[in-house]
Amino acid sequence: MEFLALPLVAILVLFLVLKLTFSWWVSPIQKHQKLKRCGFGGPPPSFPLGNIQEMKKKKSSSGSSNLTHDIHSTVFPYFSRWQSSYGKVFIYWLGTEPFLYIADPEFLNKMSTEVMAKRWGKPSVFKNDRESMFGKGLVMVEGAEWVRHRHVIAPAFSPLNLKAMRNMMIESTKQMIDRWVTQINSGNHEIDVESEVISTAGKIIARSSFGMNDEDGSVVFEKLRALQRTLFKTTRYVGVPYGKCFNVKKSLEAKKLGNEIDKLLLSVITARKKSNKGCDQQDLLGSLLKENHQVDGKKLSTRELVDECKTFFFGGHETTALAISWTLFLLAMHQDWQIQLRDEIREVIGDNELDIKVLAKLKKMKWVMNEVLRLYPPAPNVQRQARENIQVDNLTVPNGTNMWIDVVGMHHDPKLWGKDVNEFRPERFMDDVNGGCNHKMGYLPFGFGGRMCIGRNLTFMEYKIVLTLLLSRFSFNVSPNYQHSPSIMLSLRPTYGLPLIVQPL
Ligand code: HEM
Repeated sequence: MEFLALPLVAILVLFLVLKLTFSWWVSPIQKHQKLKRCGFGGPPPSFPLGNIQEMKKKKSSSGSSNLTHDIHSTVFPYFSRWQSSYGKVFIYWLGTEPFLYIADPEFLNKMSTEVMAKRWGKPSVFKNDRESMFGKGLVMVEGAEWVRHRHVIAPAFSPLNLKAMRNMMIESTKQMIDRWVTQINSGNHEIDVESEVISTAGKIIARSSFGMNDEDGSVVFEKLRALQRTLFKTTRYVGVPYGKCFNVKKSLEAKKLGNEIDKLLLSVITARKKSNKGCDQQDLLGSLLKENHQVDGKKLSTRELVDECKTFFFGGHETTALAISWTLFLLAMHQDWQIQLRDEIREVIGDNELDIKVLAKLKKMKWVMNEVLRLYPPAPNVQRQARENIQVDNLTVPNGTNMWIDVVGMHHDPKLWGKDVNEFRPERFMDDVNGGCNHKMGYLPFGFGGRMCIGRNLTFMEYKIVLTLLLSRFSFNVSPNYQHSPSIMLSLRPTYGLPLIVQPL
């Protein structure tokens, strides 16, 4: 028998070698040639890292005292360099995965008129890499599954449901204000508003999404942040064959943290399902369970509910908190706007309750928010994967191509916005929801098409409540210790925090 086993092992080894050679070497070369034939250029990749080496180099580590809003070349130095050589649509490589880079709104427009929302995919390479963070939540699912998830989830974000979250937002913000007052009274006026607002937004989402108390909420919050640091701060090789093996420890750590978060959320959901009043609780999970009860054949499984909760938790606190933090920074730089907003709050809110109808009247605050999301978009890119060949004029984007839409690049493009593109001018949104951008797809803070952000109304409400309460109590100036260095850690963040000098009014 032994003489039979030997050739069998040899055949298996040969098969493995052939398979690896094909998927690591032959298939990427074929893809590259196909893309070149389709008419796309780009920086030459090397095997097996693609263009990762170049993307990792020349990242300035220190912040700057120059408070410029011209941030594209700081945030994405490689894209900014490649744009000058290859234009606004080109191919670059993450390992052996080709990505179509897009910073041309007309190209995007033509593609998205060809492809309906449910026919878009999300890059499989990210789905695998970010499994522990988003699982198969709405951000990652595709096709009929996406339609099913979106159908069950959308009603949870209705104005009526959001209204019920108002008090939780006010309460958590007031707790933060009390903390600040205590700190200021002790003589320390410098507050890192980024970490403060992020942790408050974490509490808000924990309460308003799952009715979690602050203690449980902060456990999930801390684990999610640790997971984010593990996934996005360490040197990792996404797209490189067996890239996870380059950093086994970090990959295992991410998996472990993901499992721990799943366990915690699972216990919350199971407890809710068991309790008779589970569906009546006025938070996102309550509405989700209620909706899940009512729809036939479209129900989300408990596992799917866990993934959706993770998605809300992560997508729901960090982005909104960053929008608020960057706003406080820009208002600290532009005192005239700080005064204008305070006047508007006095006129519109006065002694009234902070209810949705009154908040809708804060027009200038909305312009400010739009302008902040333009200059410092918390979601700095949008991703897709083609699930069919897509024709754009005489170019074909082949089935399977990953796409990286550079939102920061488009929001800072003088050709789209004019010479004052890098100036903070909220009034550009006064008469135009697109801020005067000369292309409707050039301003995409919440993405585009049917997959546009589902949580944006929640963000509008939270943004206005937190900002109204803060601006009514304090004035803000940039601290001399602030170092300007926006960078990407999934979202667009201030690398060294956001210390501001806070004075009670
Ligand atoms: C300033 C705040 C926010 C920003 C800038 C933002 C940005 C985005 C962007 C760019 C997308 C991708 C859209 C696309 O692929 O075209 C997205 C999707 C999504 N966002 Fe938000 N978001 C924010 C707040 C929220 C909140 C508060 C929640 C939930 C509590 C949320 C949940 C989601 C979900 C579930 C998706 C996936 C939608 C789908 O694929 O159907 N987001 N968001």
